[in-house]
Amino acid sequence: MQTSESIHPDQLEQSTKEAFHGLGPVIYAEQKEHAVKIRGEHGNMAVRGAGPGIIRITYALHEDAAVLLPTPAVLPADSLALAGWELKEQGDSLELRSQGFIVIVDKRTMSVSVTDGHHSECGSYKMSRSGSRMQCRTAMPEDAAVYGLGETTGFLNKRGEKYTMWNSDIFDPHVPDTESLYQSIPVLIQHSKSGTFGVFIDEPGKLVVDMREDRDQVMLETFHGKMDLYILPGPGIKEVVAAYARLTGVMELPPLWSLGYQQSRFSYMNQEEVLGLAAAFREKRIPCDVIYLDIHYMDEYKIFTFDPVRFPNPKQMIAELKTMGFRIVPVVDPGVKIDAGYSVYEQGSAEGYFCRKPDGELFTGDVWPGASVFPDFTEETTRQWWGRLHQFYVEHGISGIWNDMNEPSVFNSPSKTLDPDVVHRNGGQEKPHEELHNLYGLLMCEATRNGLARLLDGERPFVLTRAGYAGIQRYAAVWTGDNRSYWEHMEMFMAMGMNLGLSGVAFCGADIGGFMHHTSGELLARWTQLGAFTPFFRNHSAIETRNQEPWHFGEEIEAICRKYIELRYRLLPYIYSLFRASTQDGLPIMSPLVLHHPLDQRVKNLSDQYLFGTHLLVAPICRPGREHRVVYLPEGVWFDYWTGERHAGGQNVVAYAPLDTLPLYVKSGAVLPMIPGSQHTGTAEWQSLNIHLYGLGAGTDCPGQEPITGEFTLYEDDGISDAYTRGISRSLQIFFEEGERCMSISCRYADNNRTLYSVQDEPLLFTIHHTRFIPTEIHGISQVPGLCDLEHRHSGWYYDKQDNHLYIKCIVTEEAGKDIYVKG
Ligand code: GLC
Repeated sequence: MQTSESIHPDQLEQSTKEAFHGLGPVIYAEQKEHAVKIRGEHGNMAVRGAGPGIIRITYALHEDAAVLLPTPAVLPADSLALAGWELKEQGDSLELRSQGFIVIVDKRTMSVSVTDGHHSECGSYKMSRSGSRMQCRTAMPEDAAVYGLGETTGFLNKRGEKYTMWNSDIFDPHVPDTESLYQSIPVLIQHSKSGTFGVFIDEPGKLVVDMREDRDQVMLETFHGKMDLYILPGPGIKEVVAAYARLTGVMELPPLWSLGYQQSRFSYMNQEEVLGLAAAFREKRIPCDVIYLDIHYMDEYKIFTFDPVRFPNPKQMIAELKTMGFRIVPVVDPGVKIDAGYSVYEQGSAEGYFCRKPDGELFTGDVWPGASVFPDFTEETTRQWWGRLHQFYVEHGISGIWNDMNEPSVFNSPSKTLDPDVVHRNGGQEKPHEELHNLYGLLMCEATRNGLARLLDGERPFVLTRAGYAGIQRYAAVWTGDNRSYWEHMEMFMAMGMNLGLSGVAFCGADIGGFMHHTSGELLARWTQLGAFTPFFRNHSAIETRNQEPWHFGEEIEAICRKYIELRYRLLPYIYSLFRASTQDGLPIMSPLVLHHPLDQRVKNLSDQYLFGTHLLVAPICRPGREHRVVYLPEGVWFDYWTGERHAGGQNVVAYAPLDTLPLYVKSGAVLPMIPGSQHTGTAEWQSLNIHLYGLGAGTDCPGQEPITGEFTLYEDDGISDAYTRGISRSLQIFFEEGERCMSISCRYADNNRTLYSVQDEPLLFTIHHTRFIPTEIHGISQVPGLCDLEHRHSGWYYDKQDNHLYIKCIVTEEAGKDIYVKG
């Protein structure tokens, strides 16, 4: 515990500012085919393309910048990356041109300024060095906001903050001045009226991002003699995020079960407890797909084992759970217990897979199993071996793995991780740990995921991770580590999740209910409401905290949790389609309003509400005892999801939200495909789709008399195998347009593969909320007297005057799709 004494009022830190100086003057510049190399008196640089519309500017002090390899965060560049460059000298500067980019290099300092093909500013980068430290300063316009930077505390806009990218196991409460967490994703998006662009700094060692010392600039600092910058042009935030996705990749489509509700605890202690838990979920009719096994499932915390007393029959338990619709996901940490006779330790030692100190001795450190060794994941042979070890879990019927403690965390080392001088073999390019630290979790997940994929025989793997680096989205979903059962931590996840989404990690979530500390029923209810609308939806809590399954807080709380978990399952077709879209464009599933409303100044730092998809706005209650909150609705027309109340956008409204109500708004133009609730994703009734469309409704505030349009691509496949990668999937493109007196809905199947989806001309139900007019006729479809008459018919329509809902049922054929014309 620290006391006020730690302030030391009389020992003010003497700022011994080191003298930083520029890298120039330029000695020579050379135009190679695909790059420009510039040598200065105090360093050298290279400028080249890095995939369509992205350029890479590398500075190096002790090596050749032109041959510096990207880290494994970056995908191999395709041929378009190799566009040629033009180089011109103009007075004190060099002018470099390629793909519309203009890079001006100051010959005195080797600082650069960049504009892109749209003549938009992509920043000026002032470079300086002192010894092996390098600093890069970018000035920001007064109105600029900064997004991205992965997993950080604080609000949405990162301007004014300081972060250190250094993966750390932070058990202390996560607070606004926590500078490092488990993930390091050094991508910054600068957004202002004068332009939007991004910078990705590919630095796997320590990187400081300081916007605090001088609010008007971003100062980047590295410590190992290089600075590797990728410039991601706009014109909007979406384009920057898409460019970042081209550079570092997108997630693969996860198995459908990993989108369901998941229950965890540190730890469920034995087989009976796990089976009892599963039975309780089914008995209480609370949907759930996954149960996690935390460290106590292992024999003395040895990974790739089960404790023979607590879990005497894991295979049978897992098989039984599968018949009930549950998957098991066990935790796997990197630390391997030093224990003669333990095969993982023996094999790894014999083959030289573990990290060593410079003197050749194994690095050892304490984690849960006590003294342990750590695989050197920078070696391909180690990753392959690690992957193969998962045969153990796959044979038990497991296809999802939870990678934890992979910063890596080491309890008893001074640095709390591997010693800085631990040697990584790194594919023949040896490097000390301090230069590669942030890659450890990424490479562990790569090994885990690829290993599972090879073993699973066509089934999709699922990996969850705590640590990661840029590109982690290709291998794992991310949860945000050891938060607490604080209202503030529930609120904090919103900005954290939104920025993770803008940093490539669409599949993210926090421990619902909070990990440490003791939750209350009220907090759990509110957090489950929010959690149902986060991409990764898992309730997890720590040892010796209050039990956190939904039924420990009385009937009211249980019912509220059930209602929102059920809603999640009803929305599965919508959510799965959002995931599918994100695997293609890299855009987030949970996004800040500013992504879709970039010109609205009021959403620049809006941190306590977000969009789930593009048309659902989630605004949770984040304080105890509150039944109201202010919600900002951006441009458009919005409906309260529960009451249907209509609001014009561009204003703040007060939401009334008693404990069982999550303030949730649907934008006019929305298409929300829903199904009936189910107990797990395996029994979800995709054949009973109800496609909800939201019209403009009646009101004097309609933005002009223009028709409102909406569109959505509903994606379906088997949810479990990789057959979709061979086209075994289908997409229903839904488009609708609502005018003043008519409406049209058009549906077409695309990419349909008949080997999976044999010709079944299924009737689809459309529910149109809030039409602008009273429907009188629908071409080719007859009106029925009541809603219940639609149940057993393949075609018909019914208009409910009371709540202004129009129901249309009709066959949508795979061949021709369907066009529906509604007249008013
Ligand atoms: C770490 C993880 C936590 C887990 C615990 C035991 O603290 O962050 O989620 O329960 O280790 O494995």
